[in-house]
Amino acid sequence: MPVTVEPCLFVVFGGTGDLMSRKLLPALYHLGERGAVHRDCIIVGVGRSADLSDDDFRRQTQEALREAGLDPGNSQAWCGRCVHYRSIHDGRVEQYRTLKAELEALEREHGLPGNRVFYLALPPQAFPATLTGLGESGLNRSAGWTRVVVEKPFGHDVESARQLNDLVHAYFEERQIYRIDHYLGKETVQNLMVFRFANPIFEALWNRDRVDHVQITVAEDLGIEGRAGYYEQAGALRDMVQNHLSQVLCHIAMEVPAAFDAQSVRDEKAKVMRSLAPVDPRDVVRGQYTRGAVADTGIPGYREEPGVRSNSATETFVAMRLQVENWRWKGVPFYLRTGKRLPRRVSRIFVTFKSAPVSLFQPFTSSLAPNVLAITLQPDEGFDLRFEVKQPGQPLGIGTQQLHFRYADAFSPLPDGYETLLLDILGGDQTLFVRADWVEASWERYHAALDAPPPLEFYEAGTWGPHGADLLLRQDGRAWLPL
Ligand code: BG6
Repeated sequence: MPVTVEPCLFVVFGGTGDLMSRKLLPALYHLGERGAVHRDCIIVGVGRSADLSDDDFRRQTQEALREAGLDPGNSQAWCGRCVHYRSIHDGRVEQYRTLKAELEALEREHGLPGNRVFYLALPPQAFPATLTGLGESGLNRSAGWTRVVVEKPFGHDVESARQLNDLVHAYFEERQIYRIDHYLGKETVQNLMVFRFANPIFEALWNRDRVDHVQITVAEDLGIEGRAGYYEQAGALRDMVQNHLSQVLCHIAMEVPAAFDAQSVRDEKAKVMRSLAPVDPRDVVRGQYTRGAVADTGIPGYREEPGVRSNSATETFVAMRLQVENWRWKGVPFYLRTGKRLPRRVSRIFVTFKSAPVSLFQPFTSSLAPNVLAITLQPDEGFDLRFEVKQPGQPLGIGTQQLHFRYADAFSPLPDGYETLLLDILGGDQTLFVRADWVEASWERYHAALDAPPPLEFYEAGTWGPHGADLLLRQDGRAWLPL
């Protein structure tokens, strides 16, 4: 059912950047095409360049849409009507006052009621000046509603996340702030809640009495894709675990919310973060890839990537053991791992259930495999439930089979996560956005591991990570399940 959102200005700082051309413009265009947003959703790219005209920017926009595989014929009219460019020059507060006047003029021209989204598609070091500029120029107030969207990373540790929260709260109320974690826009991540809370048969098993442990893996075959400047400062723990993997963990571990609304859902996720035991650096393995091959293509080592220091100690892989210290999960380990230049791209959760206390079939088979629920977030999205069956014939033999569900068999291709998130921003629904208390609690949990990082291990590009990651589970008598 298409949702029509109110007419507004959608203002993107970093308007000439990569995120705008690869994700935001295609998503906004597609939303407009399918009638999900008002035709007077006017997009303003804001950048430093003073000599870019509206027409130049529209040409860039069309090029971006073409590259995204969208029809250039239709986009021309859309660009002419909906897309503008304004410069913020050197970004002094006076420039924001000028921008304010320019935005008001655009609102008059398009007959808009003063609803505004300010999207910070910027590197993190630019967040403070932009938020200050918006606040000091009065752009945080208007005749309609105003929302501000902040891309990740939200801080680089607990202290900087608090400072950023303080700054954004100086000018905006929490109900106006949309902190993006694009994993929350993925259909399969959203479905975790539906799967759990619309299917009571699983919910009854979802606890320390029945679950042995949980594994969450987000594996990437890609490297850092030219982002050394950012990645050298971040590393896998900050880039992936503190946000994306922790959000997935919250969906697996959370209690049933009181209602399916932003406050109730985010309350439950914040409770999980507060129940998570601070991560002990001894429960963390850090790895960095060396030269190797992924899908038969030779890959340079991380330290050989342009812009990476030759003695860099940044991790491109991390594995860890976490404990959720609450009534439901006490004693059930959650193992998380993520890495770059692994053999292939796959994000999968395994929930391994406890084995039968006594095996009736001991004389016939040495061991029975535990029941496992595998939830594949991407690609080849779906579920597999593994269980034991009698193999036909005599003598008695037992083997593992699976019940499968694949999204591709039931649904047309899944929408891009950004489309979902943009529609929610425009519609004013914060459920899929990160709340201030969650982000601070999350950084707190990883503080010790970031402060005193364990030694770096090395793994060859195209393998599943360093030996230490296997040892981490072997110490507990477990192993990573094949992906
Ligand atoms: C980003 C990280 O947030 O997520 C990247 O900065 C990572 O390093 C990307 O590659 C992974 O996203 P996805 O949607 O491809 O799994």
